[in-house]
Amino acid sequence: KKVGVIFGGRSVEHEVSVITGMQIIENIDKTKYQVVPIYITKEGKWLIGECLLDFKNFKNNNLKDAKEIFMTPSHGNFNLYANPEEVGLFGKKILDTIDIIFPALHGTHGEDGSIQGLFELMDIPYVGGGVLASSVGMDKILMKDVFKANNLPIVDFYWFYRSDWKDNNESIVNNIENKLKYPVFVKPANLGSSIGINIAKDREGLIKAIEIAVNYDRKIIIEQAVQNPREINCAVLGYDEEIITSLCEEPLGWEDVLTFEDKYVKSNSKGTKTSGERRIIPADISDELRERIEDLAKKSFKAIDGRGTSRIDFLIDQEQNVFINEINTLPGSIGFYLWEGKGYPFKKLVDKLIDIALV
Ligand code: DAL
Ligand code: MG
Repeated sequence: KKVGVIFGGRSVEHEVSVITGMQIIENIDKTKYQVVPIYITKEGKWLIGECLLDFKNFKNNNLKDAKEIFMTPSHGNFNLYANPEEVGLFGKKILDTIDIIFPALHGTHGEDGSIQGLFELMDIPYVGGGVLASSVGMDKILMKDVFKANNLPIVDFYWFYRSDWKDNNESIVNNIENKLKYPVFVKPANLGSSIGINIAKDREGLIKAIEIAVNYDRKIIIEQAVQNPREINCAVLGYDEEIITSLCEEPLGWEDVLTFEDKYVKSNSKGTKTSGERRIIPADISDELRERIEDLAKKSFKAIDGRGTSRIDFLIDQEQNVFINEINTLPGSIGFYLWEGKGYPFKKLVDKLIDIALV
């Protein structure tokens, strides 16, 4: 069977996705599956070719041998055509037998249900959450609404449209100050990897942070910050009733907020290394707290109708109250480091995810 691994993409998490894609490609069982790498450029072009199998070519920007492809979604078929300029008006079908798609995309257009909708129309099996889980999981506001409706613990929040911000600054700030206490987090509703996120400690900081966030999204969410929180993450794997939890991790290097640099770029020597992020696995927490976190991880995955794997990020306050910060339906590196200690080395995790997709 041919597995198409799609990575890159138009989102701000493009670079992270290339890393995730390369890792998945490396860990697919080549005795069972043939890998077809499909790279989406930042401009949204779809490329295929051997050169996409080597990470060095991405670092050195050496993708000239890759071929642009065009796609015709049709029922039961993932038809990829070569550039019509090269092979004639209607193109030449160059790949029509991809049996399963493994999206290794993060953020907009990849983790938000849009590409999942394309796979649904094509009727081709794909790894990870469906359209609904993906879109709910991407929008921090809808996600919180669903968690709230399921009595799952979240911090207080307020949200508004960017278009309201232009004419209505003062009343929005007043509303926020009436509902929440400083410090608060200001976030674009639909981005991952900490992009566009800032903490505000007073009114002036709040306005500044909103001015940044509105550059990234139509919808802005303001969240009550938890005082001196511990951050604990836990992943889940499965679908419907068959869901298992991973080890818990405590990400390190936390200041006010984990920046994109902290998460993926800086190299560190402590903890398990994955794309430079530092973390303690398993997190040093009591069994009682771990059990509560595992229970909430499963419940939040079920609440959004998740499938495959997701990483759920929690905040723990000084009184050991647990808040669900967010669910990531296509976590960076598919969270492989959380599963190694649970009897799922990376290769087995990838295999399991493909099996789930084929159910
Ligand atoms: N959005 C990034 C990739 C993560 O949450 O892991
Ligand atoms: Mg996220």
